[in-house]
Amino acid sequence: MCGIVGVVGQSPASAILLDALRRLEYRGYDSAGIATLENGSLTRRRAVGKLANLRNLLVSEPLSGRIGIGHTRWATHGRPDENNAHPHMVSGVAVVHNGIIENHRELRDELKAAGADFTTETDSEVVAHLVSRERKNGCEPIVAVRKVLPRLSGTFALAFLFEGHENLLIGARKGSPLAVGYGRGEMFLGSDAIALAPLTDIVAYLEDGDLAVVTRDQIEFLDVNGAPLRRASSKIGRSAVIVHKGEHRHFMAKEIHEQPKVVEQTLTQYIDCRKATIRLPKNVDLDFRKIDRVSITACGTAFYAGMIARYWFERYAGLPVELDIASEFRYRDVPFGAGNLAIFVSQSGETADTLASLEFAASHGQRVLSVVNVQTSTMARASQIVLPTLAGPEIGVASTKAFTCQLATLACIAIAAGRDRGVLHAEDERSLVRALGDIPRHMMRALELEPKIRQLARKISPARDALFIGRGTNYPLALEGALKLKEITYIHAEGYAAGELKHGPIALVDKDLPVIVIAPHDATFEKTMSNMQEVIARGGRIILLTDQRGAGLAADGAWSVLELPDMPQIVTPLVFAVPLQLLAYHTAVVRGTDVDQPRNLAKSVTVE
Ligand code: F6R
Repeated sequence: MCGIVGVVGQSPASAILLDALRRLEYRGYDSAGIATLENGSLTRRRAVGKLANLRNLLVSEPLSGRIGIGHTRWATHGRPDENNAHPHMVSGVAVVHNGIIENHRELRDELKAAGADFTTETDSEVVAHLVSRERKNGCEPIVAVRKVLPRLSGTFALAFLFEGHENLLIGARKGSPLAVGYGRGEMFLGSDAIALAPLTDIVAYLEDGDLAVVTRDQIEFLDVNGAPLRRASSKIGRSAVIVHKGEHRHFMAKEIHEQPKVVEQTLTQYIDCRKATIRLPKNVDLDFRKIDRVSITACGTAFYAGMIARYWFERYAGLPVELDIASEFRYRDVPFGAGNLAIFVSQSGETADTLASLEFAASHGQRVLSVVNVQTSTMARASQIVLPTLAGPEIGVASTKAFTCQLATLACIAIAAGRDRGVLHAEDERSLVRALGDIPRHMMRALELEPKIRQLARKISPARDALFIGRGTNYPLALEGALKLKEITYIHAEGYAAGELKHGPIALVDKDLPVIVIAPHDATFEKTMSNMQEVIARGGRIILLTDQRGAGLAADGAWSVLELPDMPQIVTPLVFAVPLQLLAYHTAVVRGTDVDQPRNLAKSVTVE
C-alpha cells in the first residue's frame, strides 16, 4: 500500500508527479502529497482524501521545480488527515515512505529525548528525523541515508529529496517494491512500472537492501556500505500498463467484461489446443511424480482461488493439499518435508504476507511456484517457477479478472499433475482441457445475465446482511461472492459451506436476509437444495444461482433464479464467479459507493 514516485528532469515536476500518482492511486487514497525543490528550497502540498483534492490544491497553490517526490497514502500509523500525509519534511530533508517502520516507537523516543520535535503520528516521520540528524552531523545525503537504513526494522520503499540538491533523488528498498525508470536527461522512481509507464519504458527494480542514487543523467545502485551494484534494466511494454475504462463507467465493470478474453489468453499459454492437452512452458521443470504434497498460500480473493484449486488437486491428481492464509502460514510451525511444492497465488505479486510466506517456504527448501499477474513483481522474481496469469492490469480494487485467470492457471496445473501422476488418463485430460476451452463461451452467456442482475441489485441493495452458501468448489466461491459484496457495497456478507448453515448461521435468517445459493447440478446439488429449503422454511429470500438442469428441478420458492447453461463441473467456479461479481458491482452502483476505490482498502497490500 501507499504509492511513491519521484522525478528529476527538465520539465515541471509537479504535473509529472500528479499524473504518476493518479496511476498509483489504487495503492491507497487516504491522502496524497508532493514536495519539490523551488530554487533549492523544499516546498510541499498535501491534501486529505482522493488525489483530486491535491490536484485542486495545486491549481490554487501551484508548485514549481523540476525535481520532486510524491505519495499516495493508505494509512497504517496515524489518522488519514492532512497532517499525517506524506511527504514528511524535517530540516531540509523530505521523504515519502511505503511500508511500516516497526521500531518507530523506540526511534521516536530516542529522537525526542535528543530534542526532535514530531509533527505527525506516522511511523515514517522518524526516517526524516534520522536522516536530517545525520545531515546536521555533516554527512552528505548518500552517507546520511546509508547510516540510517540499518537502524530501520520492518519494511520500506523510500524516496528522499534534499534541500540544496537540485540534481539528486535517493531511493531505498527493503521488503516494499521500488523501481527506477530511465529517460533522456530525466530519471524516475516509482512503486511500480504502472506509475512510470508513460514516462519511460526502460525500468530496473531495486533488490532488498539496495539504494538508488538518481540524477538527471544516471542512476547508480549501491549497497548499504556504498559499494556499487549492477542491476539490469528491462524494457516494459507500455501498452500493457497504460490503462483506461473503455466504454465502462468503472474499471471493475470493464474488468468483469474482459474475462472471456483474458481467461482465454491465460489458457492459451498452458493448453495445446490442437491436442487438447496441458502444455506447461518448456522452462518449467515440474515432475509431479516426485511431488507428494502441495501447499497453497495466498490472501483474500487469491486465497479463495487456492481453496478451489485444492478440490481440483485432490480430485484430478490425488495430491494432498495444505491451504493457508499467508498471514497465518508463516507463523505456524509448519513441518516442511521433502517432495513438497509450495504454490503462492497473487495478482500483484507484492502482497507482503504472501511474499514473506514465499520467502519462508523457500528458506525451508521448498520448491516455490508462484501464480502471479504482475510478471515483474517481487514474488515472480523470488520464485523458482512462475506461471503468469495474463489478466492484464487490474485496477479496480476488488479483484475479478485476476481471480478467474488464477483459477484457469491452477486448473491447468492440477490437470498436469493428474496426468503426470497417472490419475488422469489421456482421454480424461482431453475432456477436461476441452471443457476449459469452453470457458470463454460460457462466460459470455454469464455476462448476458447482466440486465436481470441489475434489477436484482435494486432489490437487495437495502439489505443489511447477506449470506452466500455452496458446497464443494461452490463453497470457496460463496466466500468470494460474499467478499465481493461486502468490500464494495459495505453490506455485511458471509460465505458458508451450505451444510454448516444449520450449525449457527441459520439463526440470522429472516424475511430481510438475501441468501445466495450457488448450486450447479452436481453431486451435491440435492444436499444444497435441502439447505435451501431450510432457509425458505424460515422466510429467507433465496437467490438461486444454478444451471439449466438445476433451475428445472429447484426454482420453486426462490425469490430470484439466475440460470446459466449446463457445463462440466471443472469450469463452474470460473463461470459462476461472473454473476456474483456483477451482483456485487450493480448493488454497489445502486448504493452509490465508490466501486473502484472502496473505503479503507488498497489494491496492493504491501504491509503485514
Ligand atoms: C479482494 C481482493 C483482495 C486480494 C488480496 C490479495 O477483492 O482483491 O482480497 O485478493 O489482497 O492480493 P494479491 O492477489 O495481489 O496478493
